[in-house]
Amino acid sequence: MAQTLSQHKSTILTILLFSFLLHGESHKFSRNLSPKSLGLKKQKLSHLHFYFQDIVGGDHPTALRVAQSSITNTSHTGFGVVVMIDDPLTVGPETTSKIVGRAQGIYASADLNQVGFLMVMNYVFIEGKYNGSTLSILGRNSVLSPVRELPIVGGSGLFRFARGYALAKTHSFNISNGDATVEYNVYVQHY
Ligand SMILES: *[C@@H]1O[C@H](CO)[C@@H](O)[C@H](O)[C@H]1NC(C)=O
Ligand SMILES: *[C@@H]1O[C@H](CO)[C@@H](O)[C@H](O)[C@H]1NC(C)=O
Ligand SMILES: *[C@@H]1O[C@H](CO)[C@@H](O)[C@H](O)[C@H]1NC(C)=O
Repeated sequence: MAQTLSQHKSTILTILLFSFLLHGESHKFSRNLSPKSLGLKKQKLSHLHFYFQDIVGGDHPTALRVAQSSITNTSHTGFGVVVMIDDPLTVGPETTSKIVGRAQGIYASADLNQVGFLMVMNYVFIEGKYNGSTLSILGRNSVLSPVRELPIVGGSGLFRFARGYALAKTHSFNISNGDATVEYNVYVQHY
């Protein structure tokens, strides 16, 4: 009897151990990796310089209002307006200058007292080795300040593991149609 019980116990233990190993292997949730295994070598710091063309007016706008709040039109900050953009990023300040990428995403008026936009967007580049790589921006843009700092929160392609900041400076603003050209200096760490 005692022997049978101990045999029984050991069989159960074996089954438990086996099933633990089996499930432990096939359902592993996380593991440590060496950066080399993803081909990550040395961290780099890059500086990008371009102009953001926010085209609101004319026949081919690249920034379009998609929503507003009940107070947007009476608020002195346009509070609640949501604008979807696919703005060209150009190498020089002229709108006819060579396009190196596009700013795709949303800006929205998020401050009741001062003009301050929430910027949620991806910069997708098409130039040279950066073609197809993106940077993700999430920050506050107080457009009336001379220079605004926006965090770079991530990236893809050549910009994997990106972090850094963008400095935005209005280059020109057309008061009659609302078009703006904004100079960007981006400092980004990536691999
Ligand atoms: C606010 O103004 C915009 C643009 O002129 C217009 O399209 C929109 O209907 C207005 N919204 C309200 C709530 O009046
Ligand atoms: C960027 O990549 C796309 C898709 O792979 C390709 O069609 C396009 O020609 C490339 N552009 C440049 C400037 O290399
Ligand atoms: C500003 O916009 C108006 C109206 O669309 C246009 O006629 C004018 O040429 C623009 N000014 C500049 C400097 O681009």
